[in-house]
Amino acid sequence: MKIVSGNSNLPLAEKIAKKLNLSLTPREIFIFPDGERRVQIQERVVDEDCVVVQSTATPTDTNYMELFFLVDALKRSGARRVTLVMPYVGYQRQDHVFREGEAVSMQVIIKTLEAVGVDKLICFDLHAYRIQELFSIPVKHFSALPLFAEEIKKREWDSLDSVLVSPDMGGIRRIEIISRLLGEMPYATILKNRDLATGFVEAAAVNGEVGRRVLMVDDMISSGKTIVKAAELLRKHGAQEIEVFATHAVLSDEAPELLQNSIVDRVYVTDTVDVPEEKQFEKLHILTVADKVVEELLENASA
Ligand code: R5P
Repeated sequence: MKIVSGNSNLPLAEKIAKKLNLSLTPREIFIFPDGERRVQIQERVVDEDCVVVQSTATPTDTNYMELFFLVDALKRSGARRVTLVMPYVGYQRQDHVFREGEAVSMQVIIKTLEAVGVDKLICFDLHAYRIQELFSIPVKHFSALPLFAEEIKKREWDSLDSVLVSPDMGGIRRIEIISRLLGEMPYATILKNRDLATGFVEAAAVNGEVGRRVLMVDDMISSGKTIVKAAELLRKHGAQEIEVFATHAVLSDEAPELLQNSIVDRVYVTDTVDVPEEKQFEKLHILTVADKVVEELLENASA
């Protein structure tokens, strides 16, 4: 097996390779002064099962282009199969037409991934479960919810005064799953309004009882506004301690400052998206998804 990494999440690729007792396959990603990339695989991969590790958070377009070229280079060099480990899938939020005249960006990305020759995708916590069905290739869709449930148990937050909260109604399936993992822990949901044109977020109402400790669960944190607005509303409803669990730390713009200065106590994320040192903040805790990926790759290899 050969593991090739793009530039977006080298720490995760290195962890995966180390757990498999492999080194990353050398590749060159040369960046021209105008930003174009030239990609070369610098090891023989003929008839090999190859794995490309690339997350496609910011800079999303650049990360995608790099990924397309890596897969193309591997296929041209004779790779037998290319499994793509894309723990965070960029453009997943635009998986259908919300307003007349919009593009379905996710569909365009899927067509391109399949056209360049990706044979299988391994990913985590897609924004909507139906996204898997848009692919023609096999998709292994993992969730970080078991990791979060483990952490919650370890910290003994699965006690009587804790309530799970989804900061928007779209997360209901997620919250039901983690509630089951935690022995039917009670949950509440927030009615969120987001203005698609301006990005303005409003946490309008809470459905359900809120306990002293809230464990808020979401798929991603981008601007951080969903979490911060939800936390403020939950405090008004009696929440004293607010822990956040979100798989993908996209952390755009001022999100790190916003979260650090908010009433939220701790923010747990995973390494599906690399969080560079300058974006890390005191309240942030990062769990790794590497073991899950390795388990799947080993199962693939023995199949
Ligand atoms: C929305 O439907 C998602 O589940 C997240 O709540 C959202 O993408 C988070 O975005 P932001 O951090 O920008 O509010």
